Amino acid sequence: MTDTSVAAQVAAKWRKKRGSLIMALHELQDIKGYVPWDDAMEMAKDMNVPLARIYEVLTFYNFFKLEAPGKAVISVCTGTACYLKGNDKTLEEFKKQLGIDEGESTPDKMFHLQCVRCVGCCGLAPVCVVNGKTYGRVTTGDVSNIIAEWRKKFEDEDKE
Ligand code: FES
Repeated sequence: MTDTSVAAQVAAKWRKKRGSLIMALHELQDIKGYVPWDDAMEMAKDMNVPLARIYEVLTFYNFFKLEAPGKAVISVCTGTACYLKGNDKTLEEFKKQLGIDEGESTPDKMFHLQCVRCVGCCGLAPVCVVNGKTYGRVTTGDVSNIIAEWRKKFEDEDKE
């Protein structure tokens, strides 16, 4: 699942249901931790909703976050399939290694940890998503690698 395809997939799911814009934005925020403006524009196009309407909804409801709560938003799926395959242990490992609870960001704002309900890849359970990149069949042993991968990515970007 790429960054842009998350918005496209969510839009495709909700496009035919009337009055579903808020639900679609809600789902996008669940997966990404906030509603990136580029994704909102993509969803407006895909759902055939005027961009002004999406802007109105996003700014009216305080619930929607328009800024990333951390550079990397780690979403641990706690939907049924992932829970049954032990993602609660993955969540605990992320908490331990990052020193934060779910819904919190690290003091340097590099990582934000959240739980989400079924991201639609149950066949890969247990699943985590970081900034739209999906990790399937995650074990507690993968947690440090995932954190290191994103830390390195940001450090490399800072050097450029
Ligand atoms: S329950 Fe985790 S992807 Fe469906």
